[in-house]
Amino acid sequence: MRVPIVAANWKMHKTVSEAEAYLKRLVELVGEKPPVELVVFPSFTAIPMAGRLLSGTPIAWGAQNAHPEHQGAFTGEVSVAQVADLGARFLICGHSERRHLFGESDAFVGAKVRAALGHGLVPILCVGETLDERRAGRAWAVVERQLAAALAGVALADGRNLVIAYEPVWAIGTGVPARPEDAQAMAGRIRAWLQQAFGKVAEGIRIQYGGSVKPGNAREFLALPDIDGALVGGASLDPDEFWAIARAA
Ligand code: PGA
Repeated sequence: MRVPIVAANWKMHKTVSEAEAYLKRLVELVGEKPPVELVVFPSFTAIPMAGRLLSGTPIAWGAQNAHPEHQGAFTGEVSVAQVADLGARFLICGHSERRHLFGESDAFVGAKVRAALGHGLVPILCVGETLDERRAGRAWAVVERQLAAALAGVALADGRNLVIAYEPVWAIGTGVPARPEDAQAMAGRIRAWLQQAFGKVAEGIRIQYGGSVKPGNAREFLALPDIDGALVGGASLDPDEFWAIARAA
């Protein structure tokens, strides 16, 4: 039985005091035993505060990005090791904004996934096609390439140590989500691919849908057989909206 995982990707939003007010409210809403696993991804600047405020609560946290090298001359970067040192449990790897705005390659995303696993973090590996790729009938080919590159050489002892987020690029931040049947079709193919790659362990890997998830449509996605949660951007910036989405699971 896979426990659904609902995650808030705040992207480049919130000062430390705004983040603190949000998290206090979320802790209040969530109580002690939420029915789903909840994860928040603040900006780096708010992570130490989030770590303190969320310790002892059921809400986990992680980083939106990190550099795979342990340390070195990478001005402006924060390493996976540094994020792990703060007590993070999750790391978003290969978000489409990283791939498309910052030119991250499949190979670089793979290096992050391996670094995350090596430091005991759970990667949330984002995959997804652009609108042109979908229209050209290449959606699965793109997603398969992203999976193969990011997971090459990865050995998984426990499926709970990896999360895949299927996020069609054209659905992110646009207010136009995928059709549930298309999200399910893709998640099913991802599941089959994971079974080929990891065997029985794949049963424990959660697959999230991401892209314009809102309180009003969350249930449609979270009820799909191969979708085990959501990665939420815009609608996660308000704690009440985020909690409404989580409760839909
Ligand atoms: P969105 O973003 O919910 O604002 O579409 C999703 C994401 O980028 O993970």
